[in-house]
Amino acid sequence: MEVVILDEPRQLAHVAADAVAAQLAGTPDATLGLATGSSPLAVYDELAARCSRGELSFAAARGFTLDEYVGLPADHPERYRTVIDRDFVSRVDFAPGAVAGPDGLARDIPAACAAYERSISEAGGVDLQILGIGSDGHIAFNEPGSSFASRTRIKTLTRQTRVDNARFFGDDVDAVPTHCLTQGLGTIMEARHLVLLATGQKKAEAVHQLVEGAVSALWPGTILQHHPHVTVLLDPAAASRL
Ligand code: GLP
Repeated sequence: MEVVILDEPRQLAHVAADAVAAQLAGTPDATLGLATGSSPLAVYDELAARCSRGELSFAAARGFTLDEYVGLPADHPERYRTVIDRDFVSRVDFAPGAVAGPDGLARDIPAACAAYERSISEAGGVDLQILGIGSDGHIAFNEPGSSFASRTRIKTLTRQTRVDNARFFGDDVDAVPTHCLTQGLGTIMEARHLVLLATGQKKAEAVHQLVEGAVSALWPGTILQHHPHVTVLLDPAAASRL
């Protein structure tokens, strides 16, 4: 695990964008794993800027998002599919249909989850996965207690995650969905390079566990200690318990 601590979120975004750029330079048709949440936003800004300057292109690339709320209507502004389109996909030159996500409106949820796993495998797996981490150590929506072998499935969100995410729902925790679909830890661990970003004091305990804690399902991020190629990008506040 490579841990990089830099003063400014902008610097972290540059390092993450450099990793994506290097991936695309070597493999223009790379498959990227895209995270939602606030942590990667500066990375997406940086990638969009580089793309608009013609320094990199996503035209041959594919993308898979990590997770999705169950039951949010297709036009809901906080549906992750809408969020990733708004924050990133629509700002770069992905081909139409090149980015997919789990279907939180599927009538047959287990079938939709299995189909999502199949589409990731058929794309050859994820080359570079961008990740954030929840304050309780969750990765994607793999909450504490998630199996390390888990695949894409439905999960119940913890109260803590719903409270954390209420800021996107007018500070109304009851407006935050109770369930989600998420790639499993087993799915995420198959990506070839994991780039995780965390900033702020609120993430310090989760980062401490991620990097220095005993590997335990109680802190799902600790499974990343077993991955051969992980880059953890931190600001000093997130790194303050290391
Ligand atoms: C969210 C998402 C995760 C994200 C994490 C941290 O609930 N499902 O993919 O990494 O929690 O979010 P943020 O980056 O906004 O702190």
